[in-house]
Amino acid sequence: MENDLKSVAESLSGKSVDIIPYIDYLLQDLWELGTDAAHVAAMFRTYLPLPFAERSVLDLGCGKGAVSIRIAKELGCKVDGFDLFPIFIDHCQKLSKEHGVFGQCSFAVQDIRQVVERGLRYDAVVYGALGNVFGDTVSKLGKLKQTVAEKGLLYLDEAYQESGNDYPTYESWIEAFQQQNLTLIEAHEPSLDEISAVNWENQRKIEYRADQLIAKNPAIASLIEDYVESQRLECIELETDIKPVCWLLRS
Ligand SMILES: C[S@@+](CC[C@H](N)C(=O)[O-])C[C@H]1O[C@@H](n2cnc3c(N)ncnc32)[C@H](O)[C@@H]1O
Repeated sequence: MENDLKSVAESLSGKSVDIIPYIDYLLQDLWELGTDAAHVAAMFRTYLPLPFAERSVLDLGCGKGAVSIRIAKELGCKVDGFDLFPIFIDHCQKLSKEHGVFGQCSFAVQDIRQVVERGLRYDAVVYGALGNVFGDTVSKLGKLKQTVAEKGLLYLDEAYQESGNDYPTYESWIEAFQQQNLTLIEAHEPSLDEISAVNWENQRKIEYRADQLIAKNPAIASLIEDYVESQRLECIELETDIKPVCWLLRS
């Protein structure tokens, strides 16, 4: 259980699991938690074969369902979303009802490390802004590929780094795709302006909620301030050393 929560905390930029009880409050003003749902929908609209209503999509680490619900609503696909954080799955259920796509979507609390072993294959799979749940790049791609139907799509919201110290280099991503027999269809690198606008707006929203939490409970100030600081450092890294990139691949 500790290992599960560590995976959730790390994927949301938390340094320890102690932040978990406060995450939902801190992120309450954000629906998208990393991946640009409009871009995923545009890619699937372009590359999934018609009719979309017959296409199945898997959203691994679906957060509050921003990507799943957009795809269900805009394209009419059937979507299965999995996340380890139960409160987020509650949000997915509620939001899918509000958006009129409850019947097309199925959301469940499950570790995606188990989901990829179930032997089910989807027409398109999204792995959006989760970072390193599966270990090294080649093994991760191997695990994700297990969920993609023949000629199906795999959308990855990832990052690269020239030094290769904390993230793979651009070239090592390309090599890993080749090793796993995945064909690169598109690489999308958002502009610096796009990245800054979204990240700093999200940071402002998180800081607003952090101030409220600290005012209510000063004893947790250092825990919350550490979280805000790690988010702030991530915003800076994503404008300098680390380059966000979305890969669309075909199996
Ligand atoms: C940065 S969020 C991205 C959420 C969503 N993909 C989006 O872009 O809006 C990362 C998500 O991964 C989930 N997560 C982390 N490790 C997981 C695991 N092992 N199994 C399932 N979900 C996991 C977290 O709970 C969190 O909701």
